[in-house]
Amino acid sequence: MIDDLESVLISQRRIARRIRELGEEITAFYAKGEITVISIINGALPFTADLIRRITIPVRMDCIRVASYRDGIVPEGEPELIYSTNLEIENRRVMVIDDILDTGRTLFTINQIFQRRNPKSLHTCVLLDKQGRREIPFEADFIGFEIPDKFVVGYGLDFAGRYRNLPCIGTLKPELQNPPEWA
Ligand code: IMP
Ligand code: MG
Repeated sequence: MIDDLESVLISQRRIARRIRELGEEITAFYAKGEITVISIINGALPFTADLIRRITIPVRMDCIRVASYRDGIVPEGEPELIYSTNLEIENRRVMVIDDILDTGRTLFTINQIFQRRNPKSLHTCVLLDKQGRREIPFEADFIGFEIPDKFVVGYGLDFAGRYRNLPCIGTLKPELQNPPEWA
């Protein structure tokens, strides 16, 4: 699977180190008391699993599902919340986690939806940030890595459902970005 990568952008070791730091940052930011973590699956699953174990204040967590990219590289239509959470949000400190902030559409939409449920506070944490691709002004509060405008896979990020289990993050070889047998 690693042979399908053109280059490794972020190694497994760098990811682990940055997540330890993020865990400390987030723990210090919220200080005492509980937080409610909302993870956008599938992409944020490995990141969320590793990050919450580096947060040392109490965490309640649940997953939500958003449909935005049906497959592959081109976004299709507006993101839609297709599976939400029953966790109490009102008057809670909520942190939404996603794998990557790209056009900004997903987190902008999700933020609006959760803001309506009157949280005490609402923050967002992303592993990756592609600043250069923003179509909607939206910035995350906690960011793992800024990356260039390249399509990446691994550590939760997929291409057509594949490569989420790669332990590092990298770019795919160009000839693998449109394999007819995956259609
Ligand atoms: P946004 O709504 O454009 O900010 O995109 C967020 C979603 O797009 C992420 O949760 C990913 O599922 C997907 N995405 C954006 N860029 C990439 C990428 O480089 N590789 C894999 N998925 C991506
Ligand atoms: Mg995806």
